[in-house]
Amino acid sequence: MQRNSPIGVFDSGYGGLTILRQIRQLMPEYDYLYLGDNARAPYGPHSFDVVYRFTLQAVEELFSRGCKLVILACNTASAKALRTIQENDLHRWGPEYRVLGVIRPTVEAVDSLTHTRHVGVLATVGTINSGSYGMELRKLCPDIHVTGQACPMWVPLVEYGEYDTPGADYFVRKRIDSILQTDPEIDTLILACTHYPLLLPLIQRHTPLRVHVIAQGEYVARSLQEYLQRHPQMEQSLGRHGQCHYLTTESSQKFSEQATLFMSESVEAEEIQI
Ligand code: DGL
Repeated sequence: MQRNSPIGVFDSGYGGLTILRQIRQLMPEYDYLYLGDNARAPYGPHSFDVVYRFTLQAVEELFSRGCKLVILACNTASAKALRTIQENDLHRWGPEYRVLGVIRPTVEAVDSLTHTRHVGVLATVGTINSGSYGMELRKLCPDIHVTGQACPMWVPLVEYGEYDTPGADYFVRKRIDSILQTDPEIDTLILACTHYPLLLPLIQRHTPLRVHVIAQGEYVARSLQEYLQRHPQMEQSLGRHGQCHYLTTESSQKFSEQATLFMSESVEAEEIQI
């Protein structure tokens, strides 16, 4: 067996970098191939069919570039496309190909974090409307009361680099106030969009200290590590040069500049069409 397959990490744009950073921190030895579909971001407002079609194109691009395992580091894609890809499309590639999402590992972590058993989910319109977090939480922890809040402006703020402007402050405060007014008993807020940790300083500024804010990266990273321990064949197919390559469907220069900031290391991205 060849041991040269990178782990594919996909997001509509920059958000998946918050997941990639944590995965690489935990498992720096593997090779990674990141794809951001920045040209078509945000995915949040798109229909199921469109998100499924875009996500499938991205996954197939990563497979055709040598990945066997792809992480959908995007809640919108995990909510709207993961199941269909697993059920309808993976078989065309063969049994050694796998696609994993970010919702399940996050939901598994929530159980031990909430004491009031009231949890808030901050996400894109697409993820909220899919009801995926509510469904997964009801399966795993039926006693938890879930309130969802769509934050439609937050992804564009990140994609346009507006992390700490008065406009960003306004939109962040508006959504946090709204969800905590809807359910004042919430003690745990899930950032159920991989872009949102990039707004974390603002989010924390407007969240009372008694409320725990959960970014998904560390839970997704740990869950991937456990997955690889349970699937030695997949683990043995992975390249181990500690390399990371970045692909974007938008300008490579813009991506490289932004990603260099997020990853705290120099990033050289390649522009591709999918
Ligand atoms: N990072 C994606 C997510 O986790 C952003 C979605 C979007 O492009 O709207 O949902």
